[in-house]
Amino acid sequence: MKTRRTALRAMGALTLALTLSVSAGAALAQEIVIKFSHVVAPDTPKGKGAEKFRELAEQYTGGKVKVEVYPNSQLYKDKEELEALQLGAVQMLAPSLAKFGPLGVKEFEVFDLPYMFPSYEALHKVTTGPIGKEMLGLLEAKGITGLAFWDNGFKIMSANSPVTTPDDFLGLKMRIQSSKVLEAEMSALGAVPQVMAFSEVYQALQTGVVDGTENPPSNMFTQKMHEVQSHATISNHGYLGYAVIVNKKFWDELPEDVRAGLDKAMAEATEYANGIAKEENDKALQAMKDAGKTEFHELTDEERKAWVDALLPVHEEMADRIGADLIARIQAETGVK
Ligand code: LMR
Repeated sequence: MKTRRTALRAMGALTLALTLSVSAGAALAQEIVIKFSHVVAPDTPKGKGAEKFRELAEQYTGGKVKVEVYPNSQLYKDKEELEALQLGAVQMLAPSLAKFGPLGVKEFEVFDLPYMFPSYEALHKVTTGPIGKEMLGLLEAKGITGLAFWDNGFKIMSANSPVTTPDDFLGLKMRIQSSKVLEAEMSALGAVPQVMAFSEVYQALQTGVVDGTENPPSNMFTQKMHEVQSHATISNHGYLGYAVIVNKKFWDELPEDVRAGLDKAMAEATEYANGIAKEENDKALQAMKDAGKTEFHELTDEERKAWVDALLPVHEEMADRIGADLIARIQAETGVK
């Protein structure tokens, strides 16, 4: 009798366990996971934008979507993350616009042209208008859907020697992102450009593998690059921003209501990220000045003119690669030539 009761109790427990695991299985089957991988610190415009999207996406899809954000190249470095997205190993990224060349979308390098955008406002005329939409559309052929443009900011130059005039760059090894325009930019200054993944820059600067680099202050500060760079010039010579992208197949196969929720979340996260970018960069620059490890130089008008003269020829040099037409259309939009 006792054995029978024990057996029955065991059966009951088994049934309960089965029921629980079946309903857990059903719940799991319903949950859609978006792995959002990026290479910068959480405490940056992109890192904060990604977190905002996570929060809103989960809210607007009523918990049907779970967003996992992996910052700081935890999952993939620059080049690998694009491959991982195309393979579907991650669903969402926000690579810098300077990193789409190797994918075959050279037009994105237009954003790297020196002195192309005088302000965030001028830039937004392009990114939020028809040209921006058209450019995101170029990604479809690569199995990628472009959702939005996110700002970081305007770049400063740093090195372990003063970089006040173009001549100061002669022979310096400068780390760049994988953009031919950036390569031409550094060459125009007489520097030796070296493409390197973002996650490797700090160590390369520390050990002298490269002498210097360019980045918006938020990236420089959050990677502690200022601790291993003695000099920096607030040159604002070029822009660095992002395209938020998803695996096209994944996106197209989402239930319509889920995609609508995610679109809403992305629109709001974009507004948020672009709303904080300037302030984040201003704060980072101040924090680096306060840290006192790097000497920051502001260009005089005359010095700036020397930079512009040295760097503007890059536009013409790169026109064939990017498309003279695209450059002209952007200039017409921003009113800057
Ligand atoms: C860089 O590699 O310098 C930047 O693209 C990093 C980033 O994503 O902001």
